[in-house]
Amino acid sequence: MQNLPQQSKSKVFIPGKIGNVELRNRTIRSGCFEGMCANATPSEALIEHHRRVAAGGIGMTTVAYCAISNDGVAFGHEMWMREEIIPILKRLTDAVHKEGAAVSIQLGHCGFFANKSVIGVTPIGPSRKFCLFRYSICRAMNEEDIKRVREDFGKAAKMAVTAGFDTVEIHAGHGYLLSQFLSPWTNSRRDQYGGSLENRLRFPVSVIKHVREVVGPGYPIIIKMNCDDGFKGGLTIDEAVQAGQAFEAAGASMLVPSCGFTARTSFYMMRGNVPIWDYVKSEKNPVTKMGMTLFGRLIVKEIPFQELFLFDQAKRIKDAVKIPVACIGGVCSVDNMDKVKQAGFEFIEIGRATIRDPDVIRKMQSGEISASDCDHCNRCVAAMTAQGVTCVAESKGLMSK
Ligand SMILES: Cc1cc2nc3c(=O)[nH]c(=O)nc-3n(C[C@H](O)[C@H](O)[C@H](O)COP(=O)(O)O)c2cc1C
Repeated sequence: MQNLPQQSKSKVFIPGKIGNVELRNRTIRSGCFEGMCANATPSEALIEHHRRVAAGGIGMTTVAYCAISNDGVAFGHEMWMREEIIPILKRLTDAVHKEGAAVSIQLGHCGFFANKSVIGVTPIGPSRKFCLFRYSICRAMNEEDIKRVREDFGKAAKMAVTAGFDTVEIHAGHGYLLSQFLSPWTNSRRDQYGGSLENRLRFPVSVIKHVREVVGPGYPIIIKMNCDDGFKGGLTIDEAVQAGQAFEAAGASMLVPSCGFTARTSFYMMRGNVPIWDYVKSEKNPVTKMGMTLFGRLIVKEIPFQELFLFDQAKRIKDAVKIPVACIGGVCSVDNMDKVKQAGFEFIEIGRATIRDPDVIRKMQSGEISASDCDHCNRCVAAMTAQGVTCVAESKGLMSK
């Protein structure tokens, strides 16, 4: 007789709460830029992408990077929050809710690595700094900029609530603007926003406090932050632990400790293969293409993949706060998720395994599979800008039992 799959008994598949929102299980699709917002406007493809992830059994899906204002956009096909896109976002949140999942949106500002030709003005950052990623120099934010950006975070959060999102995720990691304030590498200010950790935290903390005032008590505010920036002179885990505590005190409902700096160590947050050839193939500018071919391997460092690569650092942050903490980074199997849950993490964020197969959670819950067959080739990262995020791995059918 054929052996039928056994429904998983893992505690990962029991409901859990973030703030006042209950998720049907402990799995969250992490923010993975979709590349489906031509003209800064969410497309039907974006709606279908998240409906599909929701139908695949996830507890909550996260709509990836949405800039809080036009000057916070990092690439041309990213959306930025404004009144006119609320009806489309409402259709997206309705579609996800119909599939039984919750839905979050990641709100951020990319600061010094904004592309001047896309945003039309000089990029802003904590301090004047050259950005190798863009060959551009940003200007240091003044008090007026700081006030405006803080208010834009509040306005964007309010619009997200109106559009039906169950939570907002503020991007304070990966070298985005709030993380640029935290990092000594990008913040060399001599005023109350620079120098000591307390000063570097002042702006990110004020943003979280402001968003909390806008959304009210109970509404879940998730903070994606860094355990470390991934290079000497950046934020360290010791400081990140204190940052986590400060974010909790400012009103965060949950922390997601990640790592890396998009403009400097872009693959540190993912680990695994760097798909240089996919980038070369899709690059239209012949000079950049040549540069990538010759120097790509030297510029973008490859860091070997490991299962649960942030577990130890994230645990230090978790042990220092009382709010829930989600573990992210290299979660590949039910065993991985059980280890994380048993260590006291309330939620598990998963990126690439859900890109590889949007049904991965449903299949794990039903016992059909026990692990993802994503091989961390990271070709989905190159695909996100070229064609919209998708698994383009050649090897299929490796699902382990
Ligand atoms: C294609 C792709 C796009 C990503 N885009 C974002 C993003 O927009 N915002 C973000 O915070 N992280 C982004 N990430 C990082 C993931 O959210 C996650 O932190 C990382 O992939 C590690 O999780 P994993 O091992 O489960 O994939 C992206 C990752 C991938 C693979």
